[in-house]
Amino acid sequence: RKTAPMPTDILARKGGAPLVSLTAYTTPMAQVMDGICDFVLVGDSVGMVLHGLPSTLDVTMEMMILHGQAVRRGLAQSMLVIDMPFGSYEQSPAQAFENAARLMRETGAGAVKLEGGEVMEDTIAFLTKRGIPVMAHIGLTPQSIHTLGGYKVQGRGAAATQLMADAQAVTRAGAFAVVLEKVPQALADQITETVAIPTIGIGASAQCDGQILVVDDMLGLFTAFKAKFVKRYAHLGDDAKAAVQAYADEVTARSFPGPEHVFSDEVSKT
Ligand code: KIV
Ligand code: NA
Repeated sequence: RKTAPMPTDILARKGGAPLVSLTAYTTPMAQVMDGICDFVLVGDSVGMVLHGLPSTLDVTMEMMILHGQAVRRGLAQSMLVIDMPFGSYEQSPAQAFENAARLMRETGAGAVKLEGGEVMEDTIAFLTKRGIPVMAHIGLTPQSIHTLGGYKVQGRGAAATQLMADAQAVTRAGAFAVVLEKVPQALADQITETVAIPTIGIGASAQCDGQILVVDDMLGLFTAFKAKFVKRYAHLGDDAKAAVQAYADEVTARSFPGPEHVFSDEVSKT
């Protein structure tokens, strides 16, 4: 039985065996991946995946804390990372510290993740110098969907220079890892070769230092849409639908509950 890695252990995996990670939002799903994933992310994707929100912009600190606490109870051997929600860190390093400290204190997370490259350099440095490990997230940053103009591939053509600068800025600032979302494979490889911290790819490259996916996407539970970078390793949504229909059919036919599901009047029998 191993203990959960620390951010310094994640950092030390640069260039080594690929880091395995997924999102989780509930205790049972965290238990499924505990010890298999190096770290588990309570992503603000929870808003879209579990709450039916149209984007991640409406996710609150309270939602993140509630789901963070649930996931924490399901983990013993994987590190917990928690997303800072939109509006909780952008204003100033002081605002970011206050909310990051609250997230860690109230959920037991070992690190926070926030979106942004160069623009967040001062904030990431402020947090890491004060005891808060930070995972950065660059490329497609869904909290900026309104300024990005859609969920597009980031860093194509001339924009590659800025994305490389973003990766270098978060590294300088002390981030222990950086998520690269929806960027060209060749650029992801270049960034992975250039920066000294692990790159965690999602829609990036198999040569990144690790990978992450939204668990409901890879299990086929979230089916409102499927990004190109999602691979479905199971079809649990279809299974659930079939199970609900089978139950409905049996209730209608009065074949459920069966004799094994009901109780006799005698105490001696189960
Ligand atoms: O919120 C999330 O699920 C994420 C991952 C996709 C990286 O940020
Ligand atoms: Na996120």
